[in-house]
Order: sequence, then structure tokens, then C-alpha cells
Amino acid sequence: MPKVFITREIPSAAIDLLRKHGHKVTVYRKDSPISAKELLKNIKDSDAVISLLTEKFDKALIDQLKNCKVIANYAVGYNNIDVEYAKKKNIIVTNTPDVLTDSTADLTLALILACARRIVEAEKFLRAKKYKGWKPNLLLGMELKNNVLGILGAGRIGTAVAIRAKAFGMKIVYSNKIRNEILEVQTKAKKISIDNLLKTSDIVSVHLPLNSKTFHFLNKEKLNLMKTNSILVNASRGEVIDEKELIKLLKKKKISCAGLDVFENEPNLNDEFYKLNNVVILPHIGSATTEARTNMALLAAKNVIAVLSGKKAITPV
Ligand code: DGY
Repeated sequence: MPKVFITREIPSAAIDLLRKHGHKVTVYRKDSPISAKELLKNIKDSDAVISLLTEKFDKALIDQLKNCKVIANYAVGYNNIDVEYAKKKNIIVTNTPDVLTDSTADLTLALILACARRIVEAEKFLRAKKYKGWKPNLLLGMELKNNVLGILGAGRIGTAVAIRAKAFGMKIVYSNKIRNEILEVQTKAKKISIDNLLKTSDIVSVHLPLNSKTFHFLNKEKLNLMKTNSILVNASRGEVIDEKELIKLLKKKKISCAGLDVFENEPNLNDEFYKLNNVVILPHIGSATTEARTNMALLAAKNVIAVLSGKKAITPV
């Protein structure tokens, strides 16, 4: 019986599916990330691992995997795994693309709207019993219609965000390595340079994968190119933005608001974020819908079943 270790409780449909296919499944059931020691103990002789983005599969850990044929990451991002090294060791790495695109795009739109219409600030104001009646200049925000949305990284999620924003009447520009014809046809988006996108967008939405080239991609120089009063939204990975520089610009109100679902050092946020009024901060819930999480679990399980039965992985990275 092939042994599969799952590093955290995930939707049971995936566990049922693995068992139905004759796999011996062990799940780490504590409601906190597994320690490196515990992880090592459990995965040493596993044939497959379903891992979360909270587990770091570096060279040292991969070296300890004696039987493992597949690491199925329960996420579309896979910056927690040294993929190249796993490949060298003949371990296939898979992720969960597509199934979380709509959930993450919906959440990105929620961040865009929350920033543009100052939703969180307004709610705090009301709860603090500061509302003394309607007035013309109370909590003025920005309309989406006719404003420019810059999509930085026009993959699946970036495209889905642009399509949603188009329905709100936004003008779309994007910057991506390659041309995205679907995006252009569906939203009349224009591909422009990164610097130009930053200089001309009213709202910038970041959809870059994290790797050595994108770490602090939005650094001091790039962030300073952004338009005065613009909005920055990030539901990809926190490390793509230099948070210290972002905080400086938020304090000066050069960037009017940031909507962030991800942070450099999760779950420990830079304290300044808690103090600022012009940020909307969320605990990495981009894919947190029942539909997406169930389908992520099923896709991870199907990847494991495929690889362990000698077939091609469905979504290798
Ligand atoms: C991912 O899939 O990479 C998200 O960050 C978590 O769903």
C-alpha cells in the first residue's frame, strides 16, 4: 500500500479519494503548521506528500525523502519547494492551478473595492460611533469606471481580475513576459512596459509568482513610480513587494491605499500595518472558498494517484 502523508487537515473528499485508490493516508491533524522535526519523522518513508505553503522543502529536507515520488503542493504557488532540486532527485512537484483562479480573482476585486471605497475605514468609523449624519464630504473614495487598472503579471488570476474589472468599466493595461491575447480580446487591454504601467495606473494589482527574480520586485524605485493617490493590491506573495518602502509611501499618502492579502513574513506582519488607516489587510484568504479548497484538495490527490500509478502528473510545475 503506497503511503501518503498530508501535512494538515484538508477537505476529506481528497482523503476518501486516496483511500479508494488503495493508499495508506496519514494526516497531521493539529491546527498549526507541522514542525520541521515532526515533518521529517513522517515523510521519511512516504511515497507521496501533500504539502502546504507553510512547509519549506529545501535541499536538506528533500535529501531525507527516501521513497517519495511526488510532492503535491496544496497551492498554486510553489516558492516553498526547491523544485529544481526535487527534479534532480526524481521527485515530481505538482501545484493546484485553475481551481482557485476565480476565488482569488474575486478576493482581489474585493480588495480593490475596499480600497477605492474606503470600506474598512468607513466600517471602523461607524463602529467607533463617529457617524453624526450624512455629509457631502464624508469618506470620499474613487470610482472604478474609466480609471486604469494595471495588471502586473497577466497569468490566469491576473486575467480573471481584469475581466471582472472590465465589467466595472475600468480601462486595463498589463505587463507580462508574453502577450496575453485572451486578455486583450476580452478586455481590450494594452500590454505596456512595467514602468509605464506603474506611472499610469490608478490601481495596480500584483499577480507575480515569487522566485529569485521577483523578490522585492516592487522596490523603492518601482514603488516611487506609482501615481500619487493610486492604489496597490497584492494577493500573490508578500515578498514581491518591499514592505518597508510601501509603508513609507502609505504614510506620506503617495499611495492612497494598499489592499494586501499576503505579507513578507506571514503570519508576523510588520507592526506598521496595524497602525495605518489606509491599508486593508487580510490573512491570506485568496483561495479560501469551500469550492476552491475542495477542488485544490482533489487536484492534489489526483496528482498523487497519477504519479504513484506510473502516469503523468496532471499539473506538474
Ligand atoms: C496559493 O495557492 O498559492 C495561495 O497562496 C494559497 O491558496
